[in-house]
Amino acid sequence: MVSSETGCTLIGGSLIVLLVAGYFGQQFLPAPKPKIVGFDLGTTYSCVGIYHAISGLVEVIPAQRNRSCMPSIVSFLPNGTILLGYDAFDHLETNPKYTIYDTKRFIGKNFSLESIKKIQEDYPFEIIRNENGYVEFIISDNRTSITPQEIGSLLLKHLKELVEKYLMISKVKLCVLSVPAEFNDEQRNATRQAAELIDIKVERVISEPTAAALAYGLHKRDNVRYVLVIDIGGGTTDVSLLSVQGGMFSTQAMAGNNRLGGQDFNQNLFHYILTLIDDNNKDKIDPNFLQHLRIETEKCKLDLTILDQCIINSKWIITRKLFEDINKDLFKKILEPLDRIFAYINSDINDNDEDNDDISNRVTANNIDEIVLVGGSTRMLKIRQLIEDYFQKKPNIEIDPDVAVTHGVSIQAGIIGGVWPLTVTATEVRTAVEKIHIET
Ligand SMILES: *[C@@H]1O[C@H](CO)[C@@H](O)[C@H](O)[C@H]1NC(C)=O
Ligand SMILES: *[C@@H]1O[C@H](CO)[C@@H](O)[C@H](O)[C@H]1NC(C)=O
Ligand SMILES: *[C@@H]1O[C@H](CO)[C@@H](O)[C@H](O)[C@H]1NC(C)=O
Ligand SMILES: *[C@@H]1O[C@H](CO)[C@@H](O)[C@H](O)[C@H]1NC(C)=O
Ligand SMILES: *[C@@H]1O[C@H](CO)[C@@H](O)[C@H](O)[C@H]1NC(C)=O
Repeated sequence: MVSSETGCTLIGGSLIVLLVAGYFGQQFLPAPKPKIVGFDLGTTYSCVGIYHAISGLVEVIPAQRNRSCMPSIVSFLPNGTILLGYDAFDHLETNPKYTIYDTKRFIGKNFSLESIKKIQEDYPFEIIRNENGYVEFIISDNRTSITPQEIGSLLLKHLKELVEKYLMISKVKLCVLSVPAEFNDEQRNATRQAAELIDIKVERVISEPTAAALAYGLHKRDNVRYVLVIDIGGGTTDVSLLSVQGGMFSTQAMAGNNRLGGQDFNQNLFHYILTLIDDNNKDKIDPNFLQHLRIETEKCKLDLTILDQCIINSKWIITRKLFEDINKDLFKKILEPLDRIFAYINSDINDNDEDNDDISNRVTANNIDEIVLVGGSTRMLKIRQLIEDYFQKKPNIEIDPDVAVTHGVSIQAGIIGGVWPLTVTATEVRTAVEKIHIET
């Protein structure tokens, strides 16, 4: 009894010595290099981040062309060259049959032949169904095919090499991955496989809305109970209602529209511009010109988040007002998932707890403590305004919405890596909440 107590004291004593040494040591020693990275393998963009010990800062590793992230696109050229990210993006129009994107939509999911036939209409590359019902993509005239996991692993490999070069380390071996909240076990497993194919161990998989909440440190705030995460990506809009208690997140409701995203706004602008090209110049429309116009419309949309107008092809002036008019119907649809979430949460109380009409259990827009914006399309000023009006409260926008998930997944990596200063915990409890799909 006595000796074991002494043992405890001794251990406690040496721990304190170690901690004190660590505290002083950290002021003189260089910070240890991160051992574990955070990957955000997104539908349209992929990014990688690290959590720096001591400073507690997250750094998103610069990708190609000095951008934070790279497009989740892989292009297979006839001569065997494989291009990734922006380099692949440049070949969307010139190598359409073998430039593969949107693969996250297919990962770990089985499809019927009929549904693949229908989906095929959306894509210039060929989608096939293998004997187990999973999708593969044809990447060569000799009909070689590749799985969504393999596409994922090519993208992760590129990001991994960026980190290794950036940190000057020989090998990244551990990671945390983010996945959409609605991913089931099979989809999560398949996403893990993408990392495992390049010999990276996945320490944890967390959902994207939780990652975004971590990015804003909401796991550390006692007064935050409900968080609403609005993610408007290139092709999809997703809204998640999370509850937080003691650093533990759980999803209470999800709603989304997988036919509504930033690209739809570009597309409308693109079609509008095509109507401006007069008949005399119609013969100038070739794939390279279309590709040029696509890049210009995307850039114009981005410019409008800070400027009142932008110019396309040094010729057509687009004011923000015009842009908002062209996309009037899309802006209307943006708030729909929010309405659906609150309707669902409150109908659930009505349906399942008949003898519990405790009004305090209801969650309305007024009960939301923090709103987190994710995805580049939430930069559109009109969208921010619509959200602010809806909640009568300003959303969190300090972190670049393109990398909010990367920030969070990197923080989770830091927490798991146990790096100094180890002051917080954060976990996620999976719930059986079903996503509400809004079809269009
Ligand atoms: C990359 O971006 C950073 C920060 O925006 C800037 O300081 C730097 O000059 C850029 N580098 C290149 C090569 O464009
Ligand atoms: C393959 O083709 C691309 C584009 O035409 C070219 O840039 C590249 O150098 C070629 N690579 C090889 C190995 O021939
Ligand atoms: C098929 O084509 C790809 C790319 O052009 C090449 O890498 C591969 O070796 C070819 N496979 C066969 C079996 O010919
Ligand atoms: C597809 O997945 C569902 C649900 O996981 C399963 O019931 C079904 O058998 C699968 N179909 C095929 C063809 O594997
Ligand atoms: C996911 O992977 C784990 C371990 O690799 C396995 O035990 C589990 O059955 C898999 N689940 C699904 C749904 O594929």
